Amino acid sequence: MKRFSLATFPLEGKTVFLRVDYNVPFEKGKIVDNSKIKLSLKTINYLLHKNCKIIIATHFGRPKGKFVKELTVSPLLKELKTLLPKEKIVKLSDCIGKDIQHKIQKAKPKQIFLLENLRFYKQEEQNDPAFAHSLADLADVYINEAFGVSHRKHASVDAITHFIPSIAGITLETEIQELTKALRPRKPSVWIMGGAKLDKVKLLESALQKSKYVLIGGALPFAFLKSKGISVGMSKVDGTSVRAAQKLLRKRISTKIILPIDFVVADSFSLRAKTRVAKYNDIKRDEFALDIGPATVKLFKQYLRKAHTIVWNGPLGYYEWVPFSSGTKDIGRYIVTLTAETICGGGETVDAIKKFYLEHKMTHISSGGGASLTFLAGNKIVGITALEKNYSKFKKRIKK
Ligand code: 3PG
Repeated sequence: MKRFSLATFPLEGKTVFLRVDYNVPFEKGKIVDNSKIKLSLKTINYLLHKNCKIIIATHFGRPKGKFVKELTVSPLLKELKTLLPKEKIVKLSDCIGKDIQHKIQKAKPKQIFLLENLRFYKQEEQNDPAFAHSLADLADVYINEAFGVSHRKHASVDAITHFIPSIAGITLETEIQELTKALRPRKPSVWIMGGAKLDKVKLLESALQKSKYVLIGGALPFAFLKSKGISVGMSKVDGTSVRAAQKLLRKRISTKIILPIDFVVADSFSLRAKTRVAKYNDIKRDEFALDIGPATVKLFKQYLRKAHTIVWNGPLGYYEWVPFSSGTKDIGRYIVTLTAETICGGGETVDAIKKFYLEHKMTHISSGGGASLTFLAGNKIVGITALEKNYSKFKKRIKK
């Protein structure tokens, strides 16, 4: 389905509502990682070049429809001003209303406004059409540059597109293009799936459909081992994931699943625990398996070596603690030496990639946690579908 393209849309001098995802990690009053803000700069600079007035809108945290002092967008404004020192950027005290509208109307081209946190209104998460209409009323055009929240059916993602022409931003387009490569890969494609969350069956099914092999690490192997009657000691596992694994193992396609053959196990769940390497079927009752072992790393490399596309979701061990980080680090370092396209998604995966300084060596690192999982699982992304519907509705009204 088609969408309006930023490159061809007549934007000169327009007032643009730019939905971004500035939901950045924030600790002790400081932004810990500004990458999400940086990602929006290309589109902002493009709009400045087109003499647009830019209204930037984001959510920040989960204030649950109420004003929360700690979640105002003030720190985001400060960061944005540092990143765009030459531009005039003003924070508005609300995100809807006559007063806001008036200030925007009076402004000159190239003025940048930052609206207050969208989630201070409960109507945002309710996808409320009246709230969305008030947001749309501020601008001529809407741009979605917020992939990270595009899987949410929220007013500034979905309902707003009912009212004004809506375009995908540069980063959103890149996300769509690159993640599509994971779903329509250059073959053979190998997926690496790990992480601590056990509810990844839908994603695993998509992985099995799209790939030649799926290499499993993190907490996922234990559901499979347990369903085969193998003891996993104290390792993380639950009944639902064991049943899901059992069901999956009954399918022919499950031959594509490659499980670890050894683990780094610990005598307690602690950084200072005594560790040893154990075969997959030799985890003792009181032991925790916290990383894939060296033989598994070697085995996984053999599968990865021949891949043309590698999709990576989820770290392979408890990478935050050095004794259990080797699996994730070694596999990460190995895949960047290959010529395969490397597409990575999921919050923890991205964190691990950054920790091991591999981020500039991957083909694509998705900026969306939940959104990238939704996309990779083959599900529709609300915000993208909304842009497609908007194109069908508005295409005849837009003169080039
Ligand atoms: C994120 O940080 O993953 C996105 O901004 C979405 O945030 P949410 O999970 O609070 O909707």
